[in-house]
Amino acid sequence: MSRRRRIYEGKAKTLYEGPEPGTLIQFFKDDATAFNKKKHEIVDGKGVLNNRISEYIFTQLTRVGIPNHFIKRINMREQLIKEVEIIPVEVIVRNISAGTLSERLGIPEGEVLPRSIIEFCYKKDELNDPLVSEEHITAFGWASPQEIDDMMALAIRVNDFLSGLFLGVGIQLVDFKIELGRLWENDIMRIVVADEISPDSCRLWDIKTNEKMDKDRFRRDLGGLVDSYQEVARRLGIMNENDPKRGKGPVLVKSDKT
Ligand code: CDP
Repeated sequence: MSRRRRIYEGKAKTLYEGPEPGTLIQFFKDDATAFNKKKHEIVDGKGVLNNRISEYIFTQLTRVGIPNHFIKRINMREQLIKEVEIIPVEVIVRNISAGTLSERLGIPEGEVLPRSIIEFCYKKDELNDPLVSEEHITAFGWASPQEIDDMMALAIRVNDFLSGLFLGVGIQLVDFKIELGRLWENDIMRIVVADEISPDSCRLWDIKTNEKMDKDRFRRDLGGLVDSYQEVARRLGIMNENDPKRGKGPVLVKSDKT
């Protein structure tokens, strides 16, 4: 396929040199990994779906003025992005208790949190991305106090926007992870949202049935991962190129809860 120079090989994506300086190509693989790669499978079609879903979400982020790295989708598996310096800290936002928060604090999964909670994890596979505090981030120089403020403000904006977007299509945004990067434009640096936002990096529960529509289907051996991701894409109104019947824009799903 491509003879482009490979810049970085991640678990679910590969980064290649872009056509112009300051750009990269992000390739979405079908690899599904969990528990720091102890569990690894190839899930046919996952990369294509995440590429489309992430494209849709980043395009909407741009529309509402949330700065990000996305330029355009190139094909079924690739998108053109701006090259940024990734901050080695993952930002997790939680609205409902689940996953490691439930395990750590003994809060049953599914409890609505008193308010949205932001957590930071140090991006280090060898250490299983440990939870860290602002103290660690500033003491070790991973980001400055001002950058942490910017990261938190962006994470909250993304949470507000995504919660509404998903609620409108009958999906509860339980939690999600974002990565942020430093983007230089004319000697001015700003923090932007990078990486991907997809059912691999979000917990998404159907409002009516509480059915999981995210990577927990893989982590917890529930099966039906691709069907769930496809359903997320369908509800968001992401058009299948082979299906002229579907329109663009979110598909309203009526909730029993009012
Ligand atoms: O995902 P896991 O249960 O290991 O950890 P979590 O702390 O409960 O994850 C919170 C949210 O961040 C979930 O939506 C995960 O999918 C996402 N996450 C991620 O995308 N990548 C990571 N390295 C860690 C968490």
